[in-house]
Amino acid sequence: MSEKLIIQGGKSLEGSIDVPGAKNSALPLIAATLITDKSIHLKNVPGLKDVKTMLQMVQELGKRVESTGSNSVRISGAVSNNEAPMELVRKMRASFLVLAPLICRTGKAEVPLPGGCNIGTRPVDLHLEGLKDLGATIEQRDGKIIARADKLQGSDIFFDYPSVGATEQLLMAAVGARGRTRLYNGAQEPEIRDLAEFLNELGANVSLDGSIINVEGGQEFNGTTYEVLPDRIAAGTYMLAVGATGGSVNVESVDIPSLKPLTLKLKKAGLKIVEGDNSIRIEKTERPENLEVITLPYPGFPTDLQAPITSMLTLAKGKSVIKETVFDSRFGHVAELSKMGADISVTNSSTVFVEGKNSLRGTEVEATDIRAGAALVIAGLAGEGKTEITGLKHLDRGYSKLLEHLQEIGANAERVDT
Ligand code: EPZ
Repeated sequence: MSEKLIIQGGKSLEGSIDVPGAKNSALPLIAATLITDKSIHLKNVPGLKDVKTMLQMVQELGKRVESTGSNSVRISGAVSNNEAPMELVRKMRASFLVLAPLICRTGKAEVPLPGGCNIGTRPVDLHLEGLKDLGATIEQRDGKIIARADKLQGSDIFFDYPSVGATEQLLMAAVGARGRTRLYNGAQEPEIRDLAEFLNELGANVSLDGSIINVEGGQEFNGTTYEVLPDRIAAGTYMLAVGATGGSVNVESVDIPSLKPLTLKLKKAGLKIVEGDNSIRIEKTERPENLEVITLPYPGFPTDLQAPITSMLTLAKGKSVIKETVFDSRFGHVAELSKMGADISVTNSSTVFVEGKNSLRGTEVEATDIRAGAALVIAGLAGEGKTEITGLKHLDRGYSKLLEHLQEIGANAERVDT
């Protein structure tokens, strides 16, 4: 049975939200548990479809997974299977991250190639090149990658592009390799730091030096308890909802430094932002100013907030320009925002032009990926009248407790069967 979100827009948002753990940190952390048989207790794990899929993945590979509370899980036991099931990798490309820990633990891994998705082609060449640099043999057969290495050997690796997934993949591989590895031009997203800190708690020796990651491999691992980093993209989504709709909201349990690219942009747009130790108060009293936004690898503006900030800018004063440089087709939200009356267009050089308007009008729209769905929720909250959003499977993959959080800040939103 499919469902839809119905939002009666135009109500300013008041209240506070406790931000959950980061999806894009929890997923590599769960994959990394394959590197040891010891018991690992993860806390602040977001209740998301993608997290359930990754937990199912490590279970299929032999791990015991026990829930120890609504947002915590204990993962333990030995890997007994090094062939990742096709249906799980197809469901979520992040499951490709089991490749490196499986090679480290068993000397071999068979993982189906992840498909592209509706934001771009998303190859994995940087993952595979890096594994070869560490001495793995890589074979591609029947849509699968078969990787082998009796023992990976540390080496220097240069990433042509600071890919988040490839950096996570090779960080895990380097930790299980013999000797020293240095990763040059790796991603610097906060989730990379979270994975490095987690691996060090297991007993690894990782140090981050700007764009260079130094790893001394070969340590024995112990078990640990680890708390997942707060989700900067979820926090940013709710902040942008206030920027579009108006009101005053406290976003709690946030990692302030990781939100700097957004908070500085929102101050430029005229929003009032007050930062606490781990909370942000955001107020919108008048129409936001227009902005120029360019998405870049961290510490640039995050591509995952490109669609959400575009929603806010459809209601800003004047013309805004948003350039997407990370993915080649992350514009599923543009056509849907047009249906709501936004004056918006996208060029073939991945640039979105927006002429801010006084209002959007509610209508039926469809989410095409996680963050396009978030953009439509923001537009629905700000729009006049009723907005009906379908394609909720995308939102469920990326946002835990979305409806509760919206209702907590006063949104008139409900989820019904279609
Ligand atoms: C991670 O995806 C996130 N997903 C994405 O979040 C996020 O948008 C992205 O990083 C960028 O920040 C998870 O962490 C689970 P990339 P990832 O490898 O690792 C190209 C969301 O909405 N590339 O940094 O797949 C690739 O095609 C999701 O939460 C290669 O060319 O991102 C893309 O254009 C969406 N070869 C660019 O790099 C490779 O081997 C960035 O991809 C790998 C990537």
